[in-house]
Amino acid sequence: MKTLFISLALIFCFSTYNEILAQPDSSDIPNTQKTWWKEAVIYQIYPRSFKDSDGDGVGDLKGIIEKLDYIESLGVNMVWLNPIYSSPNADNGYDISNYREIMDEFGNMEDFDLMLSEMHKRGIKFVMDVVVNHSSDEHRWFKESRKSRDNPYRDYYHWWPAEKGEPNYRYSLFDPKGEAWKYDSKTNAYYLHYFSQKQPDLNWENPKVRQEVYDIMKFWAEKGVDGFRLDAFQFVSKDTSFPPLPKGYEKDVIKYYGMGPNLHKYLKELNREVLSQYDVFAVSEGAGSTFEDAHSLVDADRNELQMAYHFKGMDVGNSLEGYKLSELKEVYTTWDSAFAKKGWLSIFLANHDVPRMVSKFGNDSPEFRAASSKMLNTFILTMRGTPYCYYGDELGMTNIGFDSISQYQDIVAKNGYEKTLNEGGDIEKYMAELKFLSRDNARTPMQWNDSEHAGFTTGTPWLPVNDNYKEVNVEAEDKDPNSCLNYFREMVNFRMENPVLVYGAYELLFPDHKQVYAYTRQMGDKKMLILLNFSKEESSIEIPSEMKELQLLKNNLPEVTKQGLDLTLAPYQALIFSYR
Ligand code: NOJ
Repeated sequence: MKTLFISLALIFCFSTYNEILAQPDSSDIPNTQKTWWKEAVIYQIYPRSFKDSDGDGVGDLKGIIEKLDYIESLGVNMVWLNPIYSSPNADNGYDISNYREIMDEFGNMEDFDLMLSEMHKRGIKFVMDVVVNHSSDEHRWFKESRKSRDNPYRDYYHWWPAEKGEPNYRYSLFDPKGEAWKYDSKTNAYYLHYFSQKQPDLNWENPKVRQEVYDIMKFWAEKGVDGFRLDAFQFVSKDTSFPPLPKGYEKDVIKYYGMGPNLHKYLKELNREVLSQYDVFAVSEGAGSTFEDAHSLVDADRNELQMAYHFKGMDVGNSLEGYKLSELKEVYTTWDSAFAKKGWLSIFLANHDVPRMVSKFGNDSPEFRAASSKMLNTFILTMRGTPYCYYGDELGMTNIGFDSISQYQDIVAKNGYEKTLNEGGDIEKYMAELKFLSRDNARTPMQWNDSEHAGFTTGTPWLPVNDNYKEVNVEAEDKDPNSCLNYFREMVNFRMENPVLVYGAYELLFPDHKQVYAYTRQMGDKKMLILLNFSKEESSIEIPSEMKELQLLKNNLPEVTKQGLDLTLAPYQALIFSYR
């Protein structure tokens, strides 16, 4: 159970392929209906860590504005920012105390308006994170709600009166005791928090709560945001009788907490009230536990959401043993097949809840860091689905790997540590797992140059900068034509210029190859072969003889080791060919 605390991703790692149901019926029309959000390349920014403009050690909106030319230079055309609303920061902004205000540390509404208009001027769209499964316990609604049982805001949250006895056990993902019901003596009742005690769950069964959420989303849509990322959204609808759940259910929270009884009703309402009224899209964080769940969220005919962000890829390799390439291929291939005709997926290998991409799926040793980062970016940018590129991954930023619990800032790391101690668990193992899997690994400051604190701040950064910033930084990589950064720019451009990489059919080749992930993308007479060596060994591959007129279009290394139908890929080499 301890491992559940290592990272959010781990929460979801227990579901197995067997639970993925068969692909639902779909029409014969291939998934080529064109839409701007399918063609986007999204750049995710963790605002706390991107650029500090005022020396308080915390990134802010003015800092992001300063760096918009850089973002534009990447070629990406959409930015998703983790939450920027007022928050006491128990979970770095995922605990919101005012949905219409900007967090003081990040700036103010004028900064936001300027940032948005400057993005739009550059042709960059903007995705707002919407966190409405829960609010902060410091939100006015909750402060009112806990005052008395007859307060008008009482039903904004889930309360269980103590005289009914103890509520049935609910597992909390973030609580040091793993307990999601928190007793509140003021009104002699328990409130529900699937995440930390400071993140009480909102009661979506109350129409007033839903209306509040739609109004908040309209407020931001009126300001001109282009998309919404719906945090933990699959959890919002709940069976409010809170019946007992089977023993051990917490190993598969998504199955028991996700896709609640009224979720689709609420999504249709949200679509009618907000999404259909503006030129916006919405992506659901999490997508249930089966293909059918995921489809039902994003099937265009159902008028609910537009894009699914499933966790299966992120779940691969969440242990010290690391991942198996066979598993990675299986996950991406089965999920692609499920969306071959309808619906739309996100493609990513990292975000703020998991380790750095290159440390997890590549090789962060000085010898292979750059090659493997480029190879992984080639993967993200050549798969079907909308790519989400996490800040710093364009440079090949790596895990920081803290040794002591005092170095961590993340609530999940700290509470997990406490829980492991409380339960008499193996603290050494916990610390080793944390070092590799902790969310703080991916939250260290952006590395801009080789000056103190990598040019992120003139103050003391809220989380230390990775020691490798002298080599791994924007300024140095910008000048180097062979850098990860310049390769990333080329690849983004390449995707933008080749719609086959957005809409083309995907087919896995050599499924059993132990080192190479090979696939094709095809649309009409446009055909591409992508070969990715995921290992630090040279790896051979025999190109199928029916592929004619092969032309090398992209190579992440200076040269192909040996060309011809029998090809040897260097460690972490990525090649893209066109063929007939
Ligand atoms: C998912 C977010 O990605 C994560 O960072 C956050 O802690 C939880 N939702 C709770 O809001």
